Amino acid sequence: MNEIQGLLTVFAPAKINLHLTVLDKRLDGFHNLESVFLSVNFGDSMHFQFIDPENSIEITMQGMKSPIPMEKNIIFKALSLFRQKTGFSRGVKITVEKRIPLGGGLGGGSSNAASTLLALNRLAGAPCSQRALLEMAVSLGSDVPFFIHETPAALVTGRGEHIQPIEAPPAYFVLVNPGFSSDTAAAFRLLDSQRASGTPNNEPAQAEERLRTIGSCCSCGSWLEFSNDFLSIFPEKEKNVYEGIILRLKELGAQFSSLSGAGSTCFGVFQDSEQAQKAAETMNLSWGFSVFCSVHRN
Ligand code: C5P
Repeated sequence: MNEIQGLLTVFAPAKINLHLTVLDKRLDGFHNLESVFLSVNFGDSMHFQFIDPENSIEITMQGMKSPIPMEKNIIFKALSLFRQKTGFSRGVKITVEKRIPLGGGLGGGSSNAASTLLALNRLAGAPCSQRALLEMAVSLGSDVPFFIHETPAALVTGRGEHIQPIEAPPAYFVLVNPGFSSDTAAAFRLLDSQRASGTPNNEPAQAEERLRTIGSCCSCGSWLEFSNDFLSIFPEKEKNVYEGIILRLKELGAQFSSLSGAGSTCFGVFQDSEQAQKAAETMNLSWGFSVFCSVHRN
């Protein structure tokens, strides 16, 4: 974070789900998850500035094809919630340099929302504890709490609110977005409908042991235990695109490749930085969006 007299610039990182298992559907309609989240040094920049009059809000999203209506913008929701909980009344202008693709499974909106809460808390003189920020975060979205922790990697359980920081793997990443977005709620519905028609559900038993194994595999860069439950549920057309990208990333040297979240961005994990950069360049020739990145550490 850089702060100059009420002007604050923050980096809102993207995340990838190195691993994602969807467990049972809960009474609140959300699903319990077992996931490994990783924060990467590719993301959006957000500039915060005080403006007149009190309680005013201006949000400018740069780099987006079509604007998000104010009341649907999660940044607006985060600011409104923060004002409601704290009484913070300064007028705020937020300018976002948007790079993370929308509906891409990279947590772009969630990261923007978390960065908004963290930045406002700082500008307001820290009226909220981390616990209070986490409560606001989970009401904004399941992926938001991870970003409040500002940790490079974590085991994430519950609907996304239980965060256990772990050591990030010693690796480089290539993110490839196929140029279409994925609707998270629709993907969960599709997964439910397929499970209802016979696909076995995952057993929540032995969760602690599974998580311990996954956590230690992550920190030493051993990928055998890693998968994404969404990969198998999509219709043939999308599935073929994802499988094609994932295979190509492996051919280009990735030790492991998969889908992030409920799509649509795929990623490859590389041991060698140069090989990853070359893979990102090669993938850029076929796909509009391919970036090289590494772990984001604060
Ligand atoms: O919380 P978020 O807004 O990211 O979730 C979008 C949708 O994805 C939810 O409305 C819900 O249908 C589904 N979801 C879920 N279980 C989760 C996270 C999301 O069923 N753990």
